[in-house]
Amino acid sequence: MILALETSCDDTCSAVVEPDGRRTLSNVVHTQTEHARYGGVVPEVASRAHLERLDGVVQRSLSEAGISLDEVSSVAVTVRPGLIGALLVGVAAAKGLAYASGLPLVPVNHLEGHVAAAYLTDLELEPPFVALIASGGHTALYSVDQNCNMLLLGETLDDAAGEALDKGARMLGLGFPGGPAISEAARGGDADRYDFPVGLKGKDKLDFSFSGLKTSLLYKLKAMDSEQLFEELPHLAAGYEAAVVEALTRKLLRAVDLQDASTVVVAGGVAANTLLRRTLEERCARTRTGLVVPPPELCTDNAAMIGAAAARSPAVPFPEYLSLNARSI
Ligand code: KG4
Ligand code: ZN
Repeated sequence: MILALETSCDDTCSAVVEPDGRRTLSNVVHTQTEHARYGGVVPEVASRAHLERLDGVVQRSLSEAGISLDEVSSVAVTVRPGLIGALLVGVAAAKGLAYASGLPLVPVNHLEGHVAAAYLTDLELEPPFVALIASGGHTALYSVDQNCNMLLLGETLDDAAGEALDKGARMLGLGFPGGPAISEAARGGDADRYDFPVGLKGKDKLDFSFSGLKTSLLYKLKAMDSEQLFEELPHLAAGYEAAVVEALTRKLLRAVDLQDASTVVVAGGVAANTLLRRTLEERCARTRTGLVVPPPELCTDNAAMIGAAAARSPAVPFPEYLSLNARSI
């Protein structure tokens, strides 16, 4: 079994995954609540919270899987990209666990982890495919080849999609994380009441931009008093959410065209968004494109996806793994 750890941001995660990376025996996620009052993740607070929680989370993942450390064959851990202090907690813990149990260590890239959540979702899925990763820290399109190599096709030129949702939510006076908060506020709203720009809409390139959308919301809010904002909130939230979804959908389908791809994988926290999932289901059905979107709990940060990626990555033996380091980018 693979024991996988993930601590790149504000979720303390541990999972047990089968060696072929297709089935999860346990997937424990502790979402740090300490950040809510700051309206965003505070790196030092995240590192400390990981330190306090990780041991317990690992124990729980083993007991929920019904196994002991003796039955673990490798330890996997996210080494990049992410908050450096947060990553270091996971990497140090993974090294300690591997060393104490005489196991190899598998370093995993967080983005490859997000994509690998798709292998836990569709047991038949094999590359090649086009992948969209839309999270709080990243928004990018990749072509994934037979050997799981990820070729960057396009990425955001400014904010990530999740970041745009988080910032939009903050402007609207909503909670954190902003993605689910905006969806909630958008209920019953008319997405067409306000005109929000879809970034780089007309451009043939596969890059994204969300800064114009943010500015557009800012100007709309400046022209409103608090009473108007209260009344207009559902429409503003719906319009803002729809613009993010449209930008992601458009570029993904353009990538499918350009790559002549038959399957797409959508991953990262924003892939948990109901409107995005529905829109992609409709449009992919129309173009007969295979669509794999993991269930919401495998879209947001978790360690099962890290275990799934580890199953397709080389393990590093002792003592080489002792010199492995975390990297923020
Ligand atoms: O992948 P993730 O959990 O962490 C990073 O690696 O960044 O993504 C977190 C992002 C946040 O910006 C959050 O607002 C967004 O994903 N998110 C959502 C939803 N759930 C989380 N965005 C839209 N709809 C959701 N249901
Ligand atoms: Zn992530």
